[in-house]
Amino acid sequence: MDIHPLLAALTPAARNEPDSGIVKAAMYGFTKPNVIPLWAGEGNLPTPEAFARPAIESLLKGETFYTWQRGIPELRDSLARYHERHFGRPFSHENFFVTSGGMQAIQTVIQMIAGEGDEIVIPTPAWPNYAGSLRIQGSLPVEVPMQFENGRWLLDLDRLFAAATPRTRAIALNSPSNPVGWTASRDELVAVRDFCRKRGLWIFGDEVYSRFYFGEKSEKRAPSFLDICDDEEMLLLANTFSKNWAMTGWRVGWLQAPKVLGPAIERIIQYNSSGTPAFLQRGCVAALEHGEDFVKSQIARARANRDLVVAALRDLPRVRFEIPRGAFYLFFGLDGMSDSTSTVLRIIDEAGVGFAPGATFGPGGEGHLRLCFLRDPDKLVEALDRFGRWLKTAPLD
Ligand SMILES: Cc1ncc(COP(=O)(O)O)c(C=O)c1O
Repeated sequence: MDIHPLLAALTPAARNEPDSGIVKAAMYGFTKPNVIPLWAGEGNLPTPEAFARPAIESLLKGETFYTWQRGIPELRDSLARYHERHFGRPFSHENFFVTSGGMQAIQTVIQMIAGEGDEIVIPTPAWPNYAGSLRIQGSLPVEVPMQFENGRWLLDLDRLFAAATPRTRAIALNSPSNPVGWTASRDELVAVRDFCRKRGLWIFGDEVYSRFYFGEKSEKRAPSFLDICDDEEMLLLANTFSKNWAMTGWRVGWLQAPKVLGPAIERIIQYNSSGTPAFLQRGCVAALEHGEDFVKSQIARARANRDLVVAALRDLPRVRFEIPRGAFYLFFGLDGMSDSTSTVLRIIDEAGVGFAPGATFGPGGEGHLRLCFLRDPDKLVEALDRFGRWLKTAPLD
């Protein structure tokens, strides 16, 4: 097939990278009336006014200039205090770097540690943006599929470690995970840490869902690399304001990294976004300082909605899943479905419900669909009722 000469003039990575299946479902679904969207990884509540107000005031006051590459000092201090409250030990503002979304934190990590042809080992199913970002800049995701056995997702650590080669620079671990909700135990984190220490690899952690954890009631968050690692070792942690504080559209996140990397991180930020708007960061300070009740209400809502979707899906034919221990997605297999991407578009058209296709989450993902349950419970009930009726009549491919 002929390709347009302007596309032919792009790098192969920019030309050939597949679309995110999540975005594809959303772009298709946006054009259809009355679809209940469960494709994206976000709640349906807007950012609380208490976080928005300081951003608006800052903007009106004229805080509209270039700003600190690492983030405004007030936000970095606030991040250190937030971590002190949640981890019960001191943190320094020098380890926090504000980024334009969790996504830029991830990109910054990749640009710092993975050169052309270097590899990062990633368990899958995983959020597609890791692999996409790596490939676009010439590095390679080495994907190690988890196993779904006896109704549970299992990560075989021996297989994960065996995937490391001399080109490997890091192990990326997203816990609790998007999309399956798998959550590493403390022992598993220790094993990853020890392997990385022994082999001189970076630990590339993504703990953006750590507060959305449905373990024992006494456990307030998922086990974290911050419980078992030194702040000054080879640990890079991506995080974001998007999920806890309902700020996906703000595009503000942070990277937690050893202090000595400060100048390198600052340069990468300069040559990418050149800094996150200061006025947005004022809203993030308010979220950290005054947002705890809101975060707790989001977590309680996620837990109740998880139970609601589990009850609705449990009795449907051909559906199988593990009840997620963290994050806010249900990733369910559908027996008889071999092409999740086309099935998602069919379900949008025929049932009026929007899921994300499992195939987009890499090896082990095909045959599944993902729904986000941090949504209005009435809409969830309606969506799953529509889906259940569709499933009873629709032949799969
Ligand atoms: C696992 C994971 N990490 C990071 C992010 C990045 O979040 P954002 O770029 O919206 O801040 C997301 C968003 O969906 C995610 O699911």
